[in-house]
Amino acid sequence: MPGLLITFEGNEGSGKTTLIRATAEALQRDYQISTVETREPGGLLLSEKIRDLLLHYPMNPWTELFLYEAARAEHLHQVLLPALKKNQWVLCDRFTDSTLAYQGAGRGLNWDQVKELNLLATQGLTPHLSVFLDIPPQLGLKNATEKNRFEEEKVGFHQKVRQGFLKSIRQEPQRWIQLKALSDSPQNMASGLIQTLKTRFPQSFRKKRSPTSPKKRSTRE
Ligand SMILES: Nc1ncnc2c1ncn2[C@@H]1O[C@H](COP(=O)(O)OP(=O)(O)O)[C@@H](O)[C@H]1O
Ligand SMILES: [Mg+2]
Repeated sequence: MPGLLITFEGNEGSGKTTLIRATAEALQRDYQISTVETREPGGLLLSEKIRDLLLHYPMNPWTELFLYEAARAEHLHQVLLPALKKNQWVLCDRFTDSTLAYQGAGRGLNWDQVKELNLLATQGLTPHLSVFLDIPPQLGLKNATEKNRFEEEKVGFHQKVRQGFLKSIRQEPQRWIQLKALSDSPQNMASGLIQTLKTRFPQSFRKKRSPTSPKKRSTRE
């Protein structure tokens, strides 16, 4: 059973963290799939320290970009690659597409240069699937629970970020699925997502175990 990297992308307050939790719960409960929930920037002590700098200290956009990539390089080697090697499913809250959307489209850094740095930091690892939770930025900002430097940006910045995500989707449509944020309960949205995963990665699913089915007996008994 091969490991999968599934990334969750979208503006602030679009329900990424909530959907990851609900999806991981359902994958473990219904399919006995071993999941790792992680986030960028962050996911381990050093990258969480970089996250704190990124989210709370004003800095030049290029510094911002390099800090994201530094946190990513560490996260790749300490969390993502080991989990994928163990055939786990990694559900990652933001990844390279957020860097394109925020530092590329939002801050106005050169899109292709950001893409190149992403590629260096990830050593070419790309998500098997990326989920875009689409939300009108104004609504997302109202809904966001985390206070940080990005959340405090004007709505125009967040509009550009959303356009950045849409550009990533146009460039690689087959890698993405788009969901309307907050359109259903987190549990129902997770079930819908899992149906899509079953269609896309049928070999990665074990047979659903029914609690009432008798245990298989050996034919020698
Ligand atoms: N499907 C949903 N339906 C209703 N409320 C939701 C849903 N998903 C998330 N929320 C709520 O929206 C807020 C932001 O969700 P969160 O997962 O933190 O978003 P993000 O991680 O994208 O910033 C939280 O208060 C959360 O409980
Ligand atoms: Mg979140």
